[in-house]
Amino acid sequence: MIIKAAAGNSLPGDPDWWKKAVFYQIYPRSFMDSNGDGFGDLQGIIDRLDYLNDGTPASLGIDAIWFSPFFPSPDRDFGYDVADYCAIDPRYGTMADFDRLVEEAHRRKIRILLDLVMNHTSSEHPWFQESRSSRNNPKRDWYIWRDGRGPGKRPPNNWRNNFFGPAWTWDEKTGQYYLHSFLKEQPDLNWYNQEVREAVFAVVRFWLDRGVDGFRLDVAHLYCKDPELRNNPPYWRRRKPAESLPAGDRTLIMNLFYYLGAPEFQVKIYNEHHPETHRVLKELRRVLDEYPAKTSVGEILGEDAGVLASYYGTGSDELHMNFYFDLMHCRWSAGAFRRCIERWERLLPPEAWPAYALSNHDVVRAISRYDQGGEGERRARLLALMLLTLRGSPFIYYGEEIGMKEARLPKRLLKDPVGRKWYPLHRGRDGARTPMQWSDSPAAGFSSGTPWLPVGPEIGKRNVAAQDSDPASLLNFYRRLIWLCKDLPVLQQGAYRSLVAGVPADCYCYLRELAGSKAAVALNFSRAPRTVDLSPEGRSWRLALSTDYRRTGESGISTLKLGPGEGCLLLEVGG
Ligand code: GLC
Repeated sequence: MIIKAAAGNSLPGDPDWWKKAVFYQIYPRSFMDSNGDGFGDLQGIIDRLDYLNDGTPASLGIDAIWFSPFFPSPDRDFGYDVADYCAIDPRYGTMADFDRLVEEAHRRKIRILLDLVMNHTSSEHPWFQESRSSRNNPKRDWYIWRDGRGPGKRPPNNWRNNFFGPAWTWDEKTGQYYLHSFLKEQPDLNWYNQEVREAVFAVVRFWLDRGVDGFRLDVAHLYCKDPELRNNPPYWRRRKPAESLPAGDRTLIMNLFYYLGAPEFQVKIYNEHHPETHRVLKELRRVLDEYPAKTSVGEILGEDAGVLASYYGTGSDELHMNFYFDLMHCRWSAGAFRRCIERWERLLPPEAWPAYALSNHDVVRAISRYDQGGEGERRARLLALMLLTLRGSPFIYYGEEIGMKEARLPKRLLKDPVGRKWYPLHRGRDGARTPMQWSDSPAAGFSSGTPWLPVGPEIGKRNVAAQDSDPASLLNFYRRLIWLCKDLPVLQQGAYRSLVAGVPADCYCYLRELAGSKAAVALNFSRAPRTVDLSPEGRSWRLALSTDYRRTGESGISTLKLGPGEGCLLLEVGG
């Protein structure tokens, strides 16, 4: 293995930093607009880095940022259709701005993860332009081209794309179909082609050489498909995986998704999770390992948690981390969350390190997902406490820390192709991508111009300025929690164990344990007070943090009283 010297811009240090880090996802278009054009930009992000971490508990205290793409893109899928992997879209700034962003972030000990969207490119990427120019172009085989079937020239097989519709589009000029797992403007790369792999790894090295600390891998479970392109079987032939979130533990919407024919009445056995993809990810890991202290986190989607866990390889030869999305699909129930975590802990290889998120740019924000009966705000605190204290790296989605809610936008304002196509059945993903709410001004302090999407609801209280000085605010809860976790090795590295004895069924409790020190987390999912007996695990506990900010200074606890919807973090005294 060649270990490169740290590039000029790199942060030196702990190769395992990503296991201790709190991550923050920025959707660059919506974070901060510095030039008034209504789009977020890199300078805007630089201007707000101190908010994220200025080295003091007055800031949020995050350790790493994952940026959704800011590469040149025709924006058919808002950056997830990349037209040039090694440049910055001028609307976001220049490469010099990017270098400054890395430098300024690193100066604050904030690491940088980029979004590597490598299942597909934009149809405007020069690679595809060449590939589609003629059947014998040298890049023809960089994408997946096939003849039509039969005299009617039907598509090569029955595969459907993930935004609904056929996965094949006919190209008039060269008389063949090409494959696309998403929009027709997002043609899939052919990962069986060695030149494609080399080209992608060159992109990876390009950014690592500029000092980035790792990558989030977009839909990495789709990279390789069945080389014979066999038809997927119909949905009724689906066998329920042994290891999955049971219907009773899933949100209603996810159950509808699974039982009303997702994904489009077929079982995707031939176009997802192909064994060759694991070989690609192992090769990618070797590229990352050429550099010190890099990391990766995969977006691997699927129903079978056993399959999802396999993307860790042995635990250290494939993905560093892999989001476990079942956590986002749990219905509001202590048991559902507990079983979900227990399943993942049980399935992971010993060295594997979990990554958890409750919100991102593709799903309804958690605070709105769980807002039944107006409980969203209280539940957001409980979820924050859980996210930050589970074993694994937490990913916070921008605005989650101030309780930004999902916006319900009318069709005419929708930008996301999913919403535009399926409205009102599906409003798409714009509702989770609205501008960061810095203040209660009309454009939320995000822009001096007109934001590309309208600002979200309840701007009066859900903004940074309003919450900054309010000790009871969600923002200040996040700040206390994150800074507290930094000082507690047991929370960063300790083993996880669920507590069941002495715990009411509608509470979720667990222990974190490290070399004799113990932390307990007790989460009351019910709307009534509850009592948890901690005495079997330790005689005396001290309250380190409650979701109820008025509650401080308690110690000598063995039986913990929880208010409705309250969560507490406790440390064993003398442990
Ligand atoms: C991932 C991204 C999503 C995008 C899709 C296609 O799921 O998170 O936003 O639409 O990939 O690239």
